[in-house]
Amino acid sequence: MSRYHFPDHFIWGAATSSYQIEGAPEADGKGESIWDRFTRSGGNILDNATGDIACDHYRRYEEDGQLMAGLGLQAYRFSISWPRLFPEGGGRPNKKGLDFYRRLVDQLQGFNIAPFATLYHWDLPQALQDKGGWTNRDTAKYFAEYAAFTFENLDLPVRGWITINEPWVAAFLGHAMGLHAPGWTDFNLALAAAHNLLLGHGLAAQRFREQGRKDEEIGIALNLAPIPPFSESEEDRAAARRTDGFMNRWFLDPLLEGAYPQDMVDLYRRHFTLPPVEEGDMEIIGGPLDFLGINNYTRHVVRAGDSESDLTGNFVNPPESEYTEMGWEVYPRGLYELLSRIGRDYGPIPLYITENGASFPDQLEEDGTVNDQARINYLQSYIFEAWQALEEGAPLKGYFVWSLMDNFEWTFGYSKRFGLIYIDYQTLERRWKNSAYWYRKGISRNGLDL
Ligand code: FCB
Repeated sequence: MSRYHFPDHFIWGAATSSYQIEGAPEADGKGESIWDRFTRSGGNILDNATGDIACDHYRRYEEDGQLMAGLGLQAYRFSISWPRLFPEGGGRPNKKGLDFYRRLVDQLQGFNIAPFATLYHWDLPQALQDKGGWTNRDTAKYFAEYAAFTFENLDLPVRGWITINEPWVAAFLGHAMGLHAPGWTDFNLALAAAHNLLLGHGLAAQRFREQGRKDEEIGIALNLAPIPPFSESEEDRAAARRTDGFMNRWFLDPLLEGAYPQDMVDLYRRHFTLPPVEEGDMEIIGGPLDFLGINNYTRHVVRAGDSESDLTGNFVNPPESEYTEMGWEVYPRGLYELLSRIGRDYGPIPLYITENGASFPDQLEEDGTVNDQARINYLQSYIFEAWQALEEGAPLKGYFVWSLMDNFEWTFGYSKRFGLIYIDYQTLERRWKNSAYWYRKGISRNGLDL
């Protein structure tokens, strides 16, 4: 058996998001969000599930805080529901909504768990969607107002702020593929949404700096994946490079270098309407970041499609690989590849793994146990690769498991379980899976035994 130790100040955490766990969509004056609207419209979600109850975390947050303390978590990444604080998107804040997050953060501090708050994990106030949502530049300004208010008014310090979670998903699954709220299917609008999401991030980070917040850090969380070509053929390599431009570089380059990647600008110009970039936008988007958050689950192997204008080519599933219940390839080495790539391509920016985890068909046994050895294997193999990257000098500061508990997995409803904690959706009882015990042990030793 070998022991793999992590640096002294390495942070071990777990993550969730508001719509996926909170429930209570109308409580205490909360406004409607685009996910309330999208799930209730019918036909968008498996079994027409909604987040109306979810894990009932809004009412059970104290019990959930106890669970986190029991796990020995050092940090908890949650998201703030914008329409709880601003039911109309802007204007008058709703004090009761803010109070919920104050109570939560207060409890975390009591347990010595560092709060990491995401400001946008996809639940846009419907009132802003009615004005065009993220395709409207004003939404970025409303976002910055909401962010500035939140930085100032959560009484206790929040250790880490994540402005936007996965702008690629919000923009493209939401506006080009129609799979996420608001369910639109227009690539040009998705490009505009992506730009305004990035702008919202940049404006919020500016407000953070203006407030001179010294003990807190701000960053963004991107969904990143290695995108290797299926073969060494020129066509496959070009398709993989385009897909990498579409999914990874379109966000990394502006944030870390202040410019959209030129090869993609040239490509998009031929087929689509380029996003409405105004003077000064790229400086705002490329402003200083304290860290980059990486959400990584898998990789995408790409084979060229039939036509050259095929943006992404085809995703291929290597037959010898293992897959999670999401159909995502288990590819731990990809985490190492990403962590090294960021340093190589963009320089030594501090990194957090803000999400990593897996869905498997968990079984609650009669004696109340959940033997999720597949999840333990998955987490162990990815954490090992993070350790390797650290050994080689990657400035990795912490790791968050997705997720603390089973929850509403977007279009898949409640059919995909990612939690360390099992939720019985009939009774809303929480049960420790074996992975939770395993993670607790890893945290307490600050490392892994393999
Ligand atoms: C990420 C999301 C998160 C969760 C995981 C499985 O894309 O940020 O909310 O759904 O995937």
